[in-house]
Amino acid sequence: MTFLAPRSDFPLLADTPTLHYLDSAATAQKPRVVLDALQQFYERDNANPHRGAYELSARATERYHDARATIATFIGATDADCTLFVRGTTEAMNLIAYGWGDAHIGAGDAIVVTAMDHHASFVTFQQLAKRTGAEFRIAELTDDGRIDMTSLRSMLDSRVKLISFPHVSNALGTINPVTEIVALAHAVGAVVVCDGAQAVPHLAVDVEALGVDFYAFSGHKVGGPMGIGVLWGRRALLESMSPWQFGGDMIEIVGDQVTTFNTLPHRFEAGTPNAADAVGLAVACDYLTALGMDRVRAHEVELTALLLDGLQLLDGIRIFGPMHAQERSGVVSFAFEDVHAHDLATILDEHGVCVRAGHHCAQPLMRRLGVPATARASVWVHTTPDDLHALMTALQHAKSLFADVALR
Ligand code: ALA
Repeated sequence: MTFLAPRSDFPLLADTPTLHYLDSAATAQKPRVVLDALQQFYERDNANPHRGAYELSARATERYHDARATIATFIGATDADCTLFVRGTTEAMNLIAYGWGDAHIGAGDAIVVTAMDHHASFVTFQQLAKRTGAEFRIAELTDDGRIDMTSLRSMLDSRVKLISFPHVSNALGTINPVTEIVALAHAVGAVVVCDGAQAVPHLAVDVEALGVDFYAFSGHKVGGPMGIGVLWGRRALLESMSPWQFGGDMIEIVGDQVTTFNTLPHRFEAGTPNAADAVGLAVACDYLTALGMDRVRAHEVELTALLLDGLQLLDGIRIFGPMHAQERSGVVSFAFEDVHAHDLATILDEHGVCVRAGHHCAQPLMRRLGVPATARASVWVHTTPDDLHALMTALQHAKSLFADVALR
């Protein structure tokens, strides 16, 4: 195994051969086809969708519409109108909280999240609970970084109106048992929100087969542009929701005192749509489809196994999350003795190795792990064993540096 996608597909990587980019979980590098699609949209198709009675505007509208259909197919959604464009996963969570939560959750109800939820969902639903007077419950984790299903079950009762969890943890890499959680949640009548930000770039996702009620992801982690993402929801739920942003395109009739709203998906897409980025995201999805999501997953399992094996050879390393590559994604967080993750990442950077260091927008999780921060390496389609080798070499160097400091 060398690579699945050549570095030459990614202009930034092609132009910096010494860079070992191991931070795809934070944001993915962009394939050339995506950058070309953005430029072509602005050079050939740029007009405001849905607004002009001229051919160019019709073409922009069609590109936007086709992008939605491509992305819906990519995530297994048969009803493309239920695939809403948002800025990213964070906005998707806020849309659910303000559009569905405020209308359907009240005092006496409960909301369940997990201790591995990203702040995008954790804080959003914590604040929803605060606004509505609902109880906010947190399902705990096992020592090896999975959702503790006993803890989760103990929190599910008829008061629970909404449960949120990540498909894949951004800080632990754990792939969660979505269909099992959906069955438990639906048995008590709760709506299921799944954060797919770390899953869609790496696994074949079929939102309908998963059985969730809402599923969100961010385009920039899939190789698409920043500033575009998707919220998929069940039609009945979306139709029962109030718009949370108001303005152009989302209306039907605007009276002096009363306004009626457009149909899906437009009622949740107020203002000029982000058409170019939607087109770019669709091209990113096509790029992954051409590689084959099963091959993407197989490639990442192989790399993750190498990464876990390599890290375990280093004394003083603590690795978080499940230890079998098959049970996790290619996101591996670790701590090295008592060295702060930021210091470690700075030394790795001197070797051209990019990893994320910090709390990964998961402070409740860090508290449970007993660390202020971790270093996190993550792989994607262009990652090779050479990149991992560079990480190991840099970590060995960091280890010797810190040992020298300790001796002084
Ligand atoms: N949510 C992104 C990450 O986990 C930024 O790194």
